[in-house]
Amino acid sequence: MSTIPLAVVILAAGKGKRMQSDLPKVMHELAGKPMISILIDQVSQQLTPEKIIVVTAQDMEELREVVKPHKSVIQKTQNGTADAVKAALPALNGFKGNVLILLGDEPLVPIQVLAEMAAHDSPSVMAIIPPDPHGLGRMVMDEEGQLIEIIEDKDCDEDQREIIVCNAGNFCVPASKLEEWLDKIGNENAQGEYYLTDMPKFAAADGVPFDVFTMPIDHVWGINDRMQLAEHEQIFRQMLRDAHAMNGVRMADPNTVYFHHDTVVAPGVMIEPSVFFGAGVRIEQGAHIKAFSHLEGAHVGANTTVGPFARLRPGSEIGEGVRIGNFVEVKKSTIGKGSKINHLAYVGDCTMGDDVNFSAGAITVNYDGFNKHQTVIGKNVMIGSNVNLVAPLTIDDGAFVAAGSTINEDVPADSLSIARDKPSIREGWATKFREGKGKNKPDSDKKAG
Ligand code: UD1
Ligand code: CA
Repeated sequence: MSTIPLAVVILAAGKGKRMQSDLPKVMHELAGKPMISILIDQVSQQLTPEKIIVVTAQDMEELREVVKPHKSVIQKTQNGTADAVKAALPALNGFKGNVLILLGDEPLVPIQVLAEMAAHDSPSVMAIIPPDPHGLGRMVMDEEGQLIEIIEDKDCDEDQREIIVCNAGNFCVPASKLEEWLDKIGNENAQGEYYLTDMPKFAAADGVPFDVFTMPIDHVWGINDRMQLAEHEQIFRQMLRDAHAMNGVRMADPNTVYFHHDTVVAPGVMIEPSVFFGAGVRIEQGAHIKAFSHLEGAHVGANTTVGPFARLRPGSEIGEGVRIGNFVEVKKSTIGKGSKINHLAYVGDCTMGDDVNFSAGAITVNYDGFNKHQTVIGKNVMIGSNVNLVAPLTIDDGAFVAAGSTINEDVPADSLSIARDKPSIREGWATKFREGKGKNKPDSDKKAG
């Protein structure tokens, strides 16, 4: 770790016009996390700077809330990246050390390279060799690789546009020189903006050239539009998969498993292909999440099986050794240890005890068109197939509810509750019906037509 004190300034006041959205650009999410928060968390955990200052625009109140407890400042008009850094100067007042300037639209910037820049005792800039330099500033260097100046894509002549080494956008500048160099930057360029990228030119003239930290990259750099957002989201999802795999999570086809940034999975858990995690899912040891399941706001207990084709919605508290089978939806419910909801069922607003069997086609009728109501099921209860449990309702321990029943009265412990019409059987009816149709067999020997 460097001994040079570090402050980080993150530029995030840009309108992000290319996103075509009212949301500030840096609030757009990757795997459910605003890109600004991804960047801030990485920086604060791995670089441990003395302070982080986020430059925002006047109307970005929501963004200022999100970056708390870190300090934010306001850049009154968006006149360019150099002007944005100027807005942070009052907040840096008195700071001595290195100021690392980052762009809020680069949440996946490699922290290791930033750490090297932060520890470096001369000013520095990060450069990349991307697959496509279009839109990026170009690094104009002499034969020794010394940086002369950075030219923005829109200001490049034809020769400069051929340069493949590009500006990654991140600078590390001694606080003592920052204001002086910023003051030299003008706005005589294609966009009429104050470009931070002009700083190395003035520093070099001052006898303090910027050192360049260069790295090749294999993906798009920075998030300016929806395509770049989608590409970054894919990279971030891959990082999450790798982290879970390193942590011992088993996946048959990791590329088809979509983790949310906050998904917590115990080592050894098996996740089959095509599983999607929304916000707030926690899965305990020995659980098995089968293919095509969708989980959100759910806690899955140890040794529980979910899916295939299951949906766990927010507030699902699934106990240990439970079986949630195919085409089962659970919402805002607690399911006790060892219970089985194996097929085609809906359980909502329910507290279910241990060792309950909730059969195929059974549902809690929790909504009356206006309000939601609770169903309480004790332990060792048997709910038959195609049962409607009309809430509010309590079914006590050990009770049986017969298949096909619609139950709207509480059921005492160890009783049978049955609510269905008695079947009426008419012997010989089918034979007569077929004779009337001119056939005396089902049409197994006739072609359907
Ligand atoms: C910038 C660099 C470019 C580099 C590229 C890398 C400049 C002039 N250009 O271009 O050399 O190759 O990043 O991704 O620096 N912002 C403000 N206030 C402003 C303008 C921008 O806070 O007045 C913020 C934006 O919110 C954004 C960041 O600065 O987070 C970068 O701005 P953007 O307009 O995206 O710059 P690029 O055109 O991508
Ligand atoms: Ca950008």
